Amino acid sequence: MAVITDKFGRPLQDLRISVTDRCNFRCTYCMPREIFGKDYAFLPKDHLLNNEEIVRLARAFIGLGVNKIRLTGGEPLLRRDLPQLIESLNTIEGLEDIALTTNASLLPNKAEAIKAAGLTRINVSLDALDNELFQAVNDSGVSSERVLKGIEKALEVGLEVKVNMVVKKGMNESEIIPMAKYFKDKGITLRYIEFMDVGTTNGWDFSKVVTKKEIIQQLSEQFELEPVDPMYLGEVAKRYRYVGTNTEVGFITSISESFCSTCTRARIAADGKLYTCLFASSGFDLRKLVRSEANDEKIKETVASIWNERGDRYSDERMEISAKNKEKIEMSYIGG
Ligand code: GTP
Ligand code: 5AD
Ligand code: SF4
Ligand code: SF4
Repeated sequence: MAVITDKFGRPLQDLRISVTDRCNFRCTYCMPREIFGKDYAFLPKDHLLNNEEIVRLARAFIGLGVNKIRLTGGEPLLRRDLPQLIESLNTIEGLEDIALTTNASLLPNKAEAIKAAGLTRINVSLDALDNELFQAVNDSGVSSERVLKGIEKALEVGLEVKVNMVVKKGMNESEIIPMAKYFKDKGITLRYIEFMDVGTTNGWDFSKVVTKKEIIQQLSEQFELEPVDPMYLGEVAKRYRYVGTNTEVGFITSISESFCSTCTRARIAADGKLYTCLFASSGFDLRKLVRSEANDEKIKETVASIWNERGDRYSDERMEISAKNKEKIEMSYIGG
């Protein structure tokens, strides 16, 4: 198996594929309704990669060293042929892990089909248990109970589940402890995510970030935590365990402790653009390539040369002025 590396020696190991730019939520920090309203121009269907194109690209990436694929959105469960996509990806030799990141609202009806297609694990986004607060955050009327039902259904069909909570100052710090208690009792890993400056529409500024240190301080008043060693190089979350249990809690610290030096992730947006960083301003048009006469070898060569040239380390550079004025793509389009 070929191993290709970028300018800083980082191998290409993970591929995140956004399968739709649409979402049934309007989380205020991701798809604020003022911007993503009725008139927002989502991608037309023929601009989305179809399943066959995704699988062909995935095979090329796996041939270059990728062993882990994560399907994202927008909300990936909105894509009707998602189970078929999972099933086809599952047949590719060399792929060790397929996962999905979802808001879980559609899981009560869809968990069975994705599990049957071969998916083993999901990460569910949930920012509050308190229903009034949750609905204020997702701005779409979906209740926290609905998401919890989705999680239950996923567990029932045998999917492994982790929960992601974006913490934003003034939005949901009050939920740090209730979420910890709830998911600790259920033995489910909860990961707190520092609010990031993805895209240009979410009104990010540093004063709205709640750091890992602040969250740990709160948790330490109620729980005893011990650090857990990373499972592999480039693991995104810093992991801890509640002492005396097997239950973990994690922190995704793009702001306070960046993890660019071990970043092995490539991203394909819903329209087939390849991005080598979550905070990129432009990407390479793989859709055009896959719809051209190019053979599989040509696709692999193209991706390899893009990866070889990669010098992204946005989170390391964030505080520099050049980074602040950068044009950036939106989270719902690239899939986090
Ligand atoms: P696991 O394989 O389960 O550890 O998944 P993951 O944490 O890599 O994926 P998930 O989709 O659950 O992402 C959780 C959070 O981490 C999201 O807010 C992502 O945007 C963020 N994240 C994932 N990869 C990167 C990255 O390379 N850079 C930055 N800055 N954030 C990332
Ligand atoms: N900062 C941090 N995390 C974010 N997510 C969406 N927008 C942001 C942001 N600005 C999270 C979602 C989901 C994951 C893919 O990314 O809540 O859990
Ligand atoms: Fe919320 Fe995720 Fe949808 Fe963004 S993509 S609006 S974070 S549910
Ligand atoms: Fe990777 Fe870019 Fe995130 Fe750094 S900021 S970890 S380079 S995706």
